[in-house]
Amino acid sequence: MNDTQLLELLNSLSVEEKVGQLIQLSGEFFNTGAMAVGPMQKLGISEEMVQQTGSVLNVLGADKVIQIQQEYLEKSRHKIPLLFMADIVYGYKTVFPIPLALGGSWDPDLVKRCNQITAKEACAAGAHVTFAPMVDVVRDARWGRCMESTGEDTYLNSVFAKAMVEGFQGDFTPGESLASCVKHYAAYGAPEGGRDYNTVDMSERRLREEYLPPYRAAVDAGCELVMTSFNTVDEIPATANSWLMDEVLRQEWGFDGVLITDYAAIAELVAHGVAEDDQDAARLAMNASVDIDMKTSCYANQLRPLLEEGKISPQKLDEAVLRVLKLKNRLGLFEDPFRGASVMREQELNNSMESKALSRQAAIESLVLLQNANDTLPLSKGSKIALIGPYADNQDLNGLWAVYGDKSQVVTLKTAFEEMLSSEYFQCTQGCELLDSHSYEGLGDFGFFTKEQTSLNSDEDKERELNQAIELAKWADVVIFAMGEHTLQSGEAGSRTDLSLPSIQTAFMEQVLPWAKKSVLLLFNGRPLVLTDVQDKVDAILECWFPGTEGGHAIVDLLMGHANPSGRLTMSFPYTVGQVPIYYNGFSTGRPPKTSTHSVRFTSRYLDAPNEPLYPFGYGLSYHTAEYSKLEISNSVLRSGESTEATIEVHNPSAVGGDEVVQLYIRDKVGSVVRPVKELRGFQKVHLQAGESRTVTFTITEDLLKFHTKEMEFEAEEGDFELYIGKSSEEYLTAAFRLEK
Ligand code: BGC
Ligand code: BGC
Repeated sequence: MNDTQLLELLNSLSVEEKVGQLIQLSGEFFNTGAMAVGPMQKLGISEEMVQQTGSVLNVLGADKVIQIQQEYLEKSRHKIPLLFMADIVYGYKTVFPIPLALGGSWDPDLVKRCNQITAKEACAAGAHVTFAPMVDVVRDARWGRCMESTGEDTYLNSVFAKAMVEGFQGDFTPGESLASCVKHYAAYGAPEGGRDYNTVDMSERRLREEYLPPYRAAVDAGCELVMTSFNTVDEIPATANSWLMDEVLRQEWGFDGVLITDYAAIAELVAHGVAEDDQDAARLAMNASVDIDMKTSCYANQLRPLLEEGKISPQKLDEAVLRVLKLKNRLGLFEDPFRGASVMREQELNNSMESKALSRQAAIESLVLLQNANDTLPLSKGSKIALIGPYADNQDLNGLWAVYGDKSQVVTLKTAFEEMLSSEYFQCTQGCELLDSHSYEGLGDFGFFTKEQTSLNSDEDKERELNQAIELAKWADVVIFAMGEHTLQSGEAGSRTDLSLPSIQTAFMEQVLPWAKKSVLLLFNGRPLVLTDVQDKVDAILECWFPGTEGGHAIVDLLMGHANPSGRLTMSFPYTVGQVPIYYNGFSTGRPPKTSTHSVRFTSRYLDAPNEPLYPFGYGLSYHTAEYSKLEISNSVLRSGESTEATIEVHNPSAVGGDEVVQLYIRDKVGSVVRPVKELRGFQKVHLQAGESRTVTFTITEDLLKFHTKEMEFEAEEGDFELYIGKSSEEYLTAAFRLEK
């Protein structure tokens, strides 16, 4: 349809039909031929309104989607197709590593390819829109949703935001693309105390400098939708925050796509205490230019009375409806309401060889080798291996937001090892439970993830497993512990105050370790853990996150040396939970411990812990080593409009080739406002053959130096800068230059 036809369509709609386009209901409303009665009553919504609904949440599968769409269109006066939206965050049936892991690949192109595969698989199942990417900046490991983000850095998250949107949307080819919905706008990743849904409060400068750019990068990449966040921003919930939605997003950034709420967020304005009732809440959201109401009856029941009382304008309503119609048109739904949904294509595409190969590659690039004492890894040929722990033969490797992930396809560690080694070299046992029964109870339920019952129920079972583990440890040359968090301990509403490995697992390790000649710890978790007490008890640690469908294969590839680890952390691992939020790009303070003239006691530090994290941002080991030398700047004075080049030589003196993530950080020495001690401003992932040297070049322009000045202008200020290039945020060479305007 062209714009005129869309306007004609809009003008032909009744108020109810317009309101319908702004409502999103979940699958149970469309379960049978007749509209479902129970959910309707529960939500307080009429059957007539359900029949006008414009979009559906989290129902996928070609047969279901085609049936629902067909029945809907048969009854509909204007034949406006339903939009099917769903959480397809890091894979559909084939699951890729969680985003916090994918971030560690420092490979935006790889992540883009993952999303292209995901888009194809999900299209075949009838999806039109995905609620992804999630690009919240995350600095507090207590928050369970760290797993959904690529990490703590604004620049890196922005680069990934663009890649992810491009991967999902492509050029909107039906059958191969999804419209992308960036979330959670804004600053959802900074709740006080790391407690989910809690207050977010920060200066406008910090918001603009550090938290908004990744959403903006998604919008600039053409992202079709934005989702509001649950939290407050400057004491106004995002969903009612007209400054955030109207002024910043729509006017400043020019976003003219669809703004959808997070789950039930309009009704929650009442609980927040900014709306008296549903009607008041609907008024606030509509006036903040929020288009679609996800999963409440606020818009459905309240927009008409609000119009009649003049509390919202007919123009506001029309603008919102037009945006939804434009999205449907952009997706080609008026021409083909099924848009590639096909049972046959589903079977062809889901978990195809191509998808699995990419999932394996993504996991190989995402895992981070944190420690490798005495070159324990890769495992030497002919070693006898004992694999022990609750993740040894466990298919729960997808993480919490793999809503549609096909768990039956997940390759466990045990399976992957057994494909390669006979029982002479490989033995495996569970050893201990993931959690004690008390901790299981605290996890609650989570719709699409069903909690398995504990498997080691009786004391005899536990005793037998412990003894078996000790026997295997005695037999083996190396013991591999596969430990970690329960899937439900991270993800939405997965906040924790204790970031250690579950105590049942550490106690178990204590009992087995004395028998281990060498030990490797594999970690499965959705957030940085505190590993301070564990790290010196084992020889090697490989952070595996939740690695997805091909996790087992990828991990074994790395352990056996068939692949060389190249992942680098994108979120700091705290030394102790008391340090969080902890991130590499903070401010110096007036009393930095290393350079202050004050006595140590009076500097900015903890008495009982270092300021530094255990493992910093950008950190990760490989089987090769790399030497960085000869950092040079082509011109130590940078003038406006010109550029200067920073070059560094990277040499791999070892006998194996591998990937280096060469990282560029910049510090603005003096600003009209305080500037971070360093900020990532570029990176290059380069492959170095054994013995190879390469010169890596970064171009420095004034654009890289811009920030929100005292006057809130986004510009670079004259003066001195320091530049750091190296292998992590804490290991680098330094050079200096000046900006003259
Ligand atoms: C989450 C969103 C998600 C939505 C729809 C909410 O609870 O915060 O990230 O997209 O549910 O499932
Ligand atoms: C303290 C102030 C005190 C001042 C003078 C500073 O170190 O922060 O509270 O008043 O010394 O003794």
